[in-house]
Amino acid sequence: MYNEKVVDHFNNPRNVGELTDADAVGENGSFKCGDTMKIYLKVKDDIIEDVRFQTYGCGAAIASSSMLTEMIKGKTIDEALQVSNQDVADELGGLPPLKLHCSNLAADALHDAIANYKKRQESAVKE
Ligand code: FES
Repeated sequence: MYNEKVVDHFNNPRNVGELTDADAVGENGSFKCGDTMKIYLKVKDDIIEDVRFQTYGCGAAIASSSMLTEMIKGKTIDEALQVSNQDVADELGGLPPLKLHCSNLAADALHDAIANYKKRQESAVKE
């Protein structure tokens, strides 16, 4: 059902955990299945220096979360914002059609984290 890359990211997920000093946190949940993802970003000069995730979900959701963290590390905030659900699925070499929605969890949580980052930046400027 899953290709080797997906199985590898599920069995050995990269960047799992929490960043207690994160500059941004994002969350997303699937109404379809109840699975959730939380993502933490450490950002310096608009570049994502570090990223961690916590996902309570299916194998495809965990593999997507893991792959996403690898894809965005070192990217600027604006570059990371361009990463779509489809990009994550493509980078994984594809997901079975029934599991395609699982990749949404990761990219949508990232977009939530970026919104959180921008909000924090705006508040910092105002202070
Ligand atoms: Fe819920 Fe995959 S079944 S994210």
